[in-house]
Amino acid sequence: MDYVTTSADIAGIACDLLAIGVRQGQLDAALSVFEPSLARDLAAAAQADEFDGKPGALALWPALGRLAAPRLALVGLGDGSTDAVRRGAGAAASAARNRGVTRLVLALGDLDTERTIAAVEGVEAGAYRYDRFKAEDARKAPIGTVAFAGSVDTAAIERAKAIAVGQRLARDLVNGPAADVYPETLAAEAAQLAGDGMTVEVWDEQQIRAAGMGGITAVGQGSERPARFVHMTWKPAGAARRKLVLVGKGVTFDSGGLSLKPTDGMKTMRCDMAGSAAVIGVMRAVRDLRPDVEVHGIFGAVENMNSGGAYKLGDILTMYNGKTVEIHNTDAEGRLVLADCLSYADKLGADAIVDLATLTGAAVIALGSDYSALYSDNEALAAQLLTASDAAGESLWRMPLPEHYKEQLKADWATLKNIGGREGGSITAALFLKEFVEKTPWAHCDIAGPAFREKAFRHLAAGASGVMVPSLVRWILA
Ligand code: BES
Ligand code: MN
Ligand code: ZN
Repeated sequence: MDYVTTSADIAGIACDLLAIGVRQGQLDAALSVFEPSLARDLAAAAQADEFDGKPGALALWPALGRLAAPRLALVGLGDGSTDAVRRGAGAAASAARNRGVTRLVLALGDLDTERTIAAVEGVEAGAYRYDRFKAEDARKAPIGTVAFAGSVDTAAIERAKAIAVGQRLARDLVNGPAADVYPETLAAEAAQLAGDGMTVEVWDEQQIRAAGMGGITAVGQGSERPARFVHMTWKPAGAARRKLVLVGKGVTFDSGGLSLKPTDGMKTMRCDMAGSAAVIGVMRAVRDLRPDVEVHGIFGAVENMNSGGAYKLGDILTMYNGKTVEIHNTDAEGRLVLADCLSYADKLGADAIVDLATLTGAAVIALGSDYSALYSDNEALAAQLLTASDAAGESLWRMPLPEHYKEQLKADWATLKNIGGREGGSITAALFLKEFVEKTPWAHCDIAGPAFREKAFRHLAAGASGVMVPSLVRWILA
């Protein structure tokens, strides 16, 4: 998408859709850009439509020849906060995309740096569709040009675009069917980012086994599609301010294994690599933004499947850090894959490790679909992530990590078992992960709720959301 600014008279701008931002309770001010009789008629229409200016609210009408544009939309900007601007811009872009609008004008007022970034993020996220497999005539043309009527921070647009490109890549990978997105192809997507200061190392299943990664090996061994381990590294040209590691869950399909999921629980399980897709998306943005921070992106990619070779209940795995794990449920596979990645990451001597995973249904029960669950025993790191997610308009909620809940993970024959009881299932999963990080400040985000939605949410189409890409890019740049 191309972004330009315009200072032309609004009613005379030729475009396919003119969207006017309206703060709550400030309709008259927003409409004052029009001549009085048009402003009066639009105010009456808004009232009839019960348009209230709430963040993301939208009213869209034909312009009936009274504007140069054929259609006009009012979009709610609520209190004018950064996040309300993001949602307003997103609602306008989503409506525009649904109508095949290729030239969109956004009159959202003057936007400072943060609001410029938010508006572009909202537009890009709201306009996103996954339509690769739709018939040609069922696809809507992408928006080509967005013109801001009002002042914006043009330099910030490039930063926002880099974030948006990373988020879109994550969404495409998560939406992609597991028949296309499997360990080898997911690793190949990461490998594509190599060059320009980024290096990417990919291990095959033999190297994974030889390295002693018993978790990745076991979960991946039931599939026809061999596992991969991926380590992406961004090293800035000069000195690095910080050294950060992102770790993602990369289960390209989670059937549950021998502890097979029922159909309803399985049908969206192509989303189970959303953590690693977010890591790839962040690394994509990092490559564009070239921060003076060393960033590592790590994931284990596996398919959790059934076959004669699948790992079994009662198996005891020896993990990369030497701890042993008794398998009580093959559907608690993500933590096994992550555990090996985390203990590998722990050796890098970084300032922080953050992992992202569609780890537990229990996180969705606890917080619903709108929140990611944040776990960390490092106050400073938790605070940094909450600040970043706040700026990105993503909902992250800190959860407790009570040591005594580890009781639930006590095994009969090994160091740990791979599940606790039903109570606090997202917490015991986090406590399990913690056993594999010894010296690095660490945080875990359970993104099982927001990573993939069966229904559209706000300006986001149904399916993958690319959650945490905007937050983590901000965290890295901070
Ligand atoms: N991938 C699932 C978790 C999940 C559930 C992600 C819903 C997205 C939406 C994970 O591997 C899993 O199956 N977890 C089990 C753990 C249980 C066996 C301890 C769960 O949540 O039921
Ligand atoms: Mn599972
Ligand atoms: Zn899973």
